Amino acid sequence: MNTLTFPILRLLADGQFHSGETLATKFGVTRATIWNAVQHAQHLGVEVFSVRGRGYKLPKPIDWLDKEAVLQAIGAEREWFQVEVLDEVASTNTYLMQAAAKGAPHVSCAVAHIQTGGRGRRGRTWISHLGASLTFSLLWRFDCGAAALSGLSLAIGVALMRALNALDIKSAKLKWPNDVLVDGKKLAGILIDLHGDLDGPSAAVIGAGINLDLPKQVFESIDQPATDIKHASHVDVNHTGMNQSILLGTVLKHLAEVLRHFEQHGFMGVRDEWLSYHAYHNQSVRMLMPDGRDVEGVVTGIAEDGILLVETALGLQRFSAGEISLRSIN
Ligand code: ATP
Ligand code: BTN
Repeated sequence: MNTLTFPILRLLADGQFHSGETLATKFGVTRATIWNAVQHAQHLGVEVFSVRGRGYKLPKPIDWLDKEAVLQAIGAEREWFQVEVLDEVASTNTYLMQAAAKGAPHVSCAVAHIQTGGRGRRGRTWISHLGASLTFSLLWRFDCGAAALSGLSLAIGVALMRALNALDIKSAKLKWPNDVLVDGKKLAGILIDLHGDLDGPSAAVIGAGINLDLPKQVFESIDQPATDIKHASHVDVNHTGMNQSILLGTVLKHLAEVLRHFEQHGFMGVRDEWLSYHAYHNQSVRMLMPDGRDVEGVVTGIAEDGILLVETALGLQRFSAGEISLRSIN
C-alpha cells in the first residue's frame, strides 16, 4: 500500500501528461516519492507511461467511480444503501464478509477500484483492471437461515440480466448457475458467500465482477473465452449514459428488487424469467463433477430450488450448483 498512488492516479485519470515536478509540488513530496508511488501502481497492474521531459501518463483516460453517481443511478431507494468506495482491496467479498461478522448493516455495498485477490468459485481467480471492470459486493441480511436460500445464486443472475437489459445490453444470457455470457463468452461472474446459521438469521455477501472495457493483455490472461460490455454491445462505455457508476447503481437497484421478491417467493418467483435468459435450454451439455467424471445430457429445466435437470443416458438427473460446472457441447 502506498498512500500517494491513488491520489496520483486520480490526477492521471484524464489521460494527459503530468510532470513529476508538478506532481511533487502538488503533493509536497520529492520526485523520487512520486516515482515510488507510480511503481506501486505498476505493481498493481496499472500501466503508467513515463516519458523523460514530459512526465507520467496513463494509456487512456479512465472512468473513476463516483459515489454520488452510483446513488443517483439507484434512484428513489438510494437511502437504503451504504456504499463504500475502496481504492485497493484484496476482495470485496472477503472485505464485506469481515464487515458482516462485525455487524455491518443490511444493504452495505463495497466497490473497489482495484482488487488484488479477486475470487471466483472454488478458489478460482477473478481478474479485473482499474477503470475497466466493475467489482463490488452487497451484504443482504435474511431472517431465514442459510438452508432456505437455495436458488439465491440463480436469482442474482436474474437481477444482473435485468440491469443489463435496462442499460440496453440485450444479448446477454445466463449459464447455470449464474455466469453471464454473450455469444458463449463470459461477461460477468457472481460469487455468493454465506454467513450465519443454517436455521437462524443469515447473511449473504453477493459479489459480482462485470467486464466493461478490458485491455487486450487482460483478456489474454483469462483462461476461458471472455468478453466485455464494449465488445458485446453497441453501448458506448465511459460515456455520460454508461460508466462504472451508472452500471453499479443500476445493478444495485435491481438486486434489491429481486432480493425482496426472493424473500417472499424464493427462486420460484423468478424461475420463469431465469429460464427465459437460459443460454443452454434444451441443448446438449457436459456436467463436470467434483470427482473428475463428466456426465453428458440435454438440459430440460430448473427445479424450484435452482437444481439443474438434465436428461442423460441414465435418465433424468438433478445437479446442484455447489461443486459442479456446466459446459456446452457444440
Ligand atoms: P463454473 O461457474 O461453470 O463452475 P467457471 O470456469 O466460469 O465455471 P468460476 O469460478 O465461475 O468458473 O469463475 C472463475 C473463472 O472465470 C476463472 O477461472 C477464469 O477462467 C474466469 N475469469 C476470471 N476473470 C474473468 C473475467 N474478468 N472475465 C471473464 N472470465 C474471467
Ligand atoms: C465467478 O464467476 O466465479 C464469480 C466471480 C465473482 C467476482 C466478483 S468481483 C467482486 C467480488 N469479489 C470477489 O473476490 N469476487 C467477486
